[in-house]
Amino acid sequence: MTRDEILTSYTDVYLVEHPFVKHKLTSLRDKNTSTREFRMLVEELGTLIGYEATRDLETIDIEVETPLETALSPVLKGKKLCIVTIMRAGNGLAEGVLKLSPSARVGHVGMYRDPETKRPVEYYLKMPHSVEERTIIVVDPMLATGNSAIAAIDKMKAMGAKDIRFICLFAAPEGIEAFKTAHKDVPIYVGSIDRELDEKAYIRPGVGDAGDRIYGTQ
Ligand code: URA
Repeated sequence: MTRDEILTSYTDVYLVEHPFVKHKLTSLRDKNTSTREFRMLVEELGTLIGYEATRDLETIDIEVETPLETALSPVLKGKKLCIVTIMRAGNGLAEGVLKLSPSARVGHVGMYRDPETKRPVEYYLKMPHSVEERTIIVVDPMLATGNSAIAAIDKMKAMGAKDIRFICLFAAPEGIEAFKTAHKDVPIYVGSIDRELDEKAYIRPGVGDAGDRIYGTQ
């Protein structure tokens, strides 16, 4: 599928097309962008895309004393958000989403991609309590094959999570199709849907290895 076919086929794949998002994604693509700048941009994009992904959070009116009178004013309803980072590249993005909700809980899923099979191998899982009562925002900058995101969301659902959203910066059409086949009910918020996945399961044109570029390990 092409980017446009993806967007017409799935009503809950949200491409965040704000000019700041586009500009920052272009800086990420640039191979000359430094590690420091890359990390900062990923964090900033986490905030911008996280803002879109939380637009529909429920609020409830409470009474608040202003210096002049008592007012009814909205606050977020329910339990604190839970941001779930797919390590290690997700950590940078999670920091950005945390800027929106500094008291959010943070879950960690450790996955690496087996270079031979391209399948995700889980090595770590730590989640806060009451996942079934929280909005869960799973973050990973790159939705390539979709395998890690699918496996992480399988885990969240097995733990009882009901309201799950997924945020990424770049997605391959193949990854979105695989994700949506596995998790039809989970919306995707994405900065760019790129052309394709290559034979090494890199997103093209993409940014290369996002984890390596965030941590300077390339
Ligand atoms: N993971 C990355 O970091 N980059 C890709 O292009 C695909 C998966």
